[in-house]
Amino acid sequence: MDFDRVPRPAYCVPGSSVKNLIIAIDGPSGVGKSTLSKLLARELDYINLDTGAMYRTVALASSRRGIDARDHAALQKLCEEILIEFVREGGEESVLLNGEDVSRAIRTPEISLLTAAVAACPEVRRAMVERQRELGAAGGVVLEGRDIGTVVFPQADVKFFLKASSEIRGQRRFLELQSQGAEVGLARTIADVKARDDADINRSTSPLKKAEDAVLIDTTDLDIPQVLERMLTVINKTRKSGQEGQPG
Ligand code: DC
Repeated sequence: MDFDRVPRPAYCVPGSSVKNLIIAIDGPSGVGKSTLSKLLARELDYINLDTGAMYRTVALASSRRGIDARDHAALQKLCEEILIEFVREGGEESVLLNGEDVSRAIRTPEISLLTAAVAACPEVRRAMVERQRELGAAGGVVLEGRDIGTVVFPQADVKFFLKASSEIRGQRRFLELQSQGAEVGLARTIADVKARDDADINRSTSPLKKAEDAVLIDTTDLDIPQVLERMLTVINKTRKSGQEGQPG
């Protein structure tokens, strides 16, 4: 199998002076971050780093070991013991837990709720942020999450903060789960989105918050291509100003 494991050498156009940017995308669940992050990474030939998948994988591992989300010492030990990797094969990205593909297992409603609790543990956050910095340090990367522009890479070259109403985000998530064959209800999905928002916004460590210098995009009435276009316009501006700043 020809797996393309992260980290890999940062993308660089031969002979080009365009810097490998660090691009941060933050925002609540269901706002389109994952889709847009993947599309941007493909467009720019950058690495895509889904940091939510890392927290989800920790939650899955903790549930398999029967660890209580309030037991921070056990969660810290777990983070030291597990290996989380991203692989890309034929354009499809997967997340591996100790070599096992858990891409589907981390997306159930139960694991989604558990993840919000596990992600509130400061020891877990410390371990994940350290790994995210390692993976993104070389640039040429799009990171999506909740605290990328505020905590993980406050010096990111471009920061986006996406928002949309909780009803529209719940509807999007509902359609996504339905298309995967999951038996879920719309009202329950919207309630889950609100519960996770609450947990993400109100936790004391790295709460979901827009970085002051992030570009805010409300995706409520925009489709994916429209948001992508706006993001690319901002990125291209940054790339141009970076080039202009280079000694000729
Ligand atoms: O983006 P997502 O829905 O896959 O994220 C899953 C959970 O992980 C969600 O409750 C928020 C949390 N998370 C976080 O706290 N920090 C991040 N950088 C990414 C996700």
